[in-house]
Parts: sequence; structure tokens; C-alpha cells
Amino acid sequence: MSTHLYLDSGDPAHTRDLLGKGVLLAGVTTNPSLVVRHPEVVARVTQEEYFTRNEINALYKQIVQEIAGMVDESVSVEVYANCDTTAREMLEQAWEMNGWIHNAHIKLPATPAGLTAAEQLVAEGIRVNLTLCFTQEQAAAVASATTGATPGQVLLSPFIGRLDDKGRNGMSLIYNIQRMYQEAGVEHVRLLAASLRSREHLLACYACGVDIITAPYQLLLDWVADGYPMPDDSFSYDPGLIEIPFEEYDVQAPWQSFSLQHPLVTAGVEGFADDWDAVLGEVG
Ligand code: E4P
Repeated sequence: MSTHLYLDSGDPAHTRDLLGKGVLLAGVTTNPSLVVRHPEVVARVTQEEYFTRNEINALYKQIVQEIAGMVDESVSVEVYANCDTTAREMLEQAWEMNGWIHNAHIKLPATPAGLTAAEQLVAEGIRVNLTLCFTQEQAAAVASATTGATPGQVLLSPFIGRLDDKGRNGMSLIYNIQRMYQEAGVEHVRLLAASLRSREHLLACYACGVDIITAPYQLLLDWVADGYPMPDDSFSYDPGLIEIPFEEYDVQAPWQSFSLQHPLVTAGVEGFADDWDAVLGEVG
């Protein structure tokens, strides 16, 4: 398939604006950190009017319902999870969120609890997006845990920018997973390049033909303003960062045999949970 473009935003006005400018958005990804930047959330929290859990969930539902009416292919909706959240707790949120809209991919962290939940959701025919992917080993585990899924039922989101921030070439993780999936004949997982920071990231993603790119609003606005430049044959990408080496994994092995650990996974889970908790005036 050709590369599909998604918007990474929790504000429906961004989707509406880009579609109005003619950008062919096939989907949208959201996460807790993006939703708390929605103008209604910011306005309330600025006045120290915090949300109950029910209120923030109701607003999240309203936001994704608005977005779901504007894009056909997919809207990623992320469960609330901190490091103690169980698979059962993720499943309960996933079932509810999947009922909000017709085109959801339920976002779950690529952790043991997240993969336990994903395995069950896939068996139930629900679409999932495994997020916070920082290692090829996580990608092997995701392919294994979701074996039997239909093409497009499973998305995997490697985070390019957050690896770059640590001095590693995030794009090399994309290349490594592409190679591993191609060599192993994995067709049920689509690679969704996430955590893009720059035009160079966007062009490098198009150049390698990743399945899906999700990009922030401002990055897409600037790209549109410049007339949608695409990489040509002379394009090369070298950010001068440390390459992540390719490793051999057997994607048929039980997913529980893979390590899902990386410092950025823990930091990412905690970061999303902290952003969500910060808008809550009460817990429960
Ligand atoms: C999208 O699915 C991701 O949650 C998002 O791209 C993360 O981006 P960030 O690293 O800029 O927070």
C-alpha cells in the first residue's frame, strides 16, 4: 500500500482545518497528552476548574466522535494507563472506547499488560494500536501476540522523535522493523511512524514507504504551505545520530518470551498518565 497520512492531534479544529486546505488525511491519532491540550481543557484547568474522571472521559468521547466523522480509516483512542494498570482495566476501557466511534483503533502501551489486552481484543475483532514502541523486540512481540489479525487490524507506533531526543536515530528503528516484518512475512501489523518532530522525519518516512505516518498539526501546516514537497531520488537522511542495530528475532515465538522493557516505555507510560492526572480534581 502507499503511505497513508494521519494527523497527531486531540483538537478536531486541526483536522477540519487541514481537510479544508485539501490535505488527504486518512486518520487521526490522539493520546492523553494531546487531549489535555484541547482548548476546552486548557481553559478550564487555567481557571483551576478541574475535571472528574467521568467528565474528562465524556469530553474525550465528544472529541473523538467529532474527529471520527471527518476521517474514514482510523481514529486512535488511547486507554488511561499508568505502570500499575492491569490488562483487565485496559480491556474495560477498550470495550467502552470502541463503542464511541465506528473507526477506532484502541491504543494500548506495548507493555506486558497492554499486549495481554491486545491479544484478547484482536481475538474479539477489535482494532488496536500498540504504542510507545522503542525497540525491535517490542515489534516482534506485537506481531506474535496479534497473530491471526486481519491486515490493518493492528497498528504499531514506533516513536522516532523520542529516540532522536536520546541521541539514537529513531528512523533506524523503523527500517529495522520494516526489514524484520518483510523477512518474516508479517502482513497483519501496519507500521505507523509516530513522534515526528521535523520535515526531515516526514520526508524520511515517505522515502522508506512506511505504511502510515502521523504528524503534528504545525508540521503539516508548514508542509502544506510549502506545497507538499516530497523526497526525490536524491533524498538521503542522515541525522548524525547513533544507529540502532538490526537484530534477529523469531516473530513466531511466544510473545511472553520477548523483553518489552526500555526506559522510554516506562517514562512514556508515566508521562501520559501524569498529563491525564493533572487535569483531574479528584481521583475515581
Ligand atoms: C502518536 O500516536 C504518538 O502518541 C505521538 O506521535 C507521540 O509524539 P511525541 O513524542 O511528540 O509526544
